[in-house]
Amino acid sequence: MQKEKVLSGIRPTGFVHLGNYFGAIRNWVKMQDEYDCYYCVVDWHSLTTHPDTHELKHNVHRLLAELIASGIDPDKCVLYIQSDVPEIAELYFYLNTVAYIGELEKTVTFKEKARQQPDNVNAGLFTYPVLQAADILIHRAVNVPVGKDQEQHIEMTRTFADRFNHRYGEVFPSPKAFNYYGAELIKIMSLDGVGKMSKSVNQMNTLYLADTDEQIRKKIMKAKTDSGPTEPNSVMPDYIENLFTLLRLVSAQETIEKFEADFNNCVIRYGDVKKQLAEDMVRFMAPIRERALAIQDDKEYLAKVIATGREKARASASETLAIVRNAMGVNY
Ligand code: TRP
Repeated sequence: MQKEKVLSGIRPTGFVHLGNYFGAIRNWVKMQDEYDCYYCVVDWHSLTTHPDTHELKHNVHRLLAELIASGIDPDKCVLYIQSDVPEIAELYFYLNTVAYIGELEKTVTFKEKARQQPDNVNAGLFTYPVLQAADILIHRAVNVPVGKDQEQHIEMTRTFADRFNHRYGEVFPSPKAFNYYGAELIKIMSLDGVGKMSKSVNQMNTLYLADTDEQIRKKIMKAKTDSGPTEPNSVMPDYIENLFTLLRLVSAQETIEKFEADFNNCVIRYGDVKKQLAEDMVRFMAPIRERALAIQDDKEYLAKVIATGREKARASASETLAIVRNAMGVNY
């Protein structure tokens, strides 16, 4: 039986952080065996907010290396770069003719970005969800693992797909935001307790896969805490909960239980928690960083990965595009 398709995209802007790793990438890794997975580095999307392309190539290479170092296996999935697949751009145009300006204007991410970059409210930004729809529909993928903030884009993808099908005949299956096995979506807060970890802002409070051991230690030791609970079995403030979330991801069961008991008995010493967490985090992250650095240096290997991904992605994309053109009668 044919495996169901999974598709997701990641923008090559800024550095991959622990929120990306535990919230998304780790699930992508798990899905590789069970699904027909497409993972796309969406460099066109990044141009809508990052017009300066001086570091683009470097960022794309580093991102590929970090994905592979995290367990994404280019032999098990299709790992490719968006701009390597011109079929996506063609489908993007067709989809632009079934996307209404009124619905694009209501996109939350568009309104947010327009506020953040008032001098560059470009048409690419406006049609960002259409390009994302093209990413998904070009492979006729149904499962799209994304976080909450992307759900509106997936809903729009469904709208565009339905409208296309209605106009030209059944071509696209209806994609859905996909939560692997109903797995709990792990959210990692920034270490100062303000918002989520981020690829580009609040760097001192975000742990990046590229951070050195010393940076990891320093950031964790500076994480926000307080003087500790005064009542047994108190509710944890969210910034303390976040430290426990991190402990649960990288520390031994005894360690977690000890600190939980200490918290509940009001004898917790956050300095000790952070020291232990820092060491466990370094142990967890260092091998990923080292692998990523080695891959990044191996230009030949990277070139091979990119070429293979391009070939596999284009094979699937051109199949869909032929069906699209036939359905539309754009075939002479
Ligand atoms: N918009 C997504 C983000 O900001 C990235 C993305 C682009 C994507 N194309 C996609 C995600 C297709 C899932 C499927 O994170």
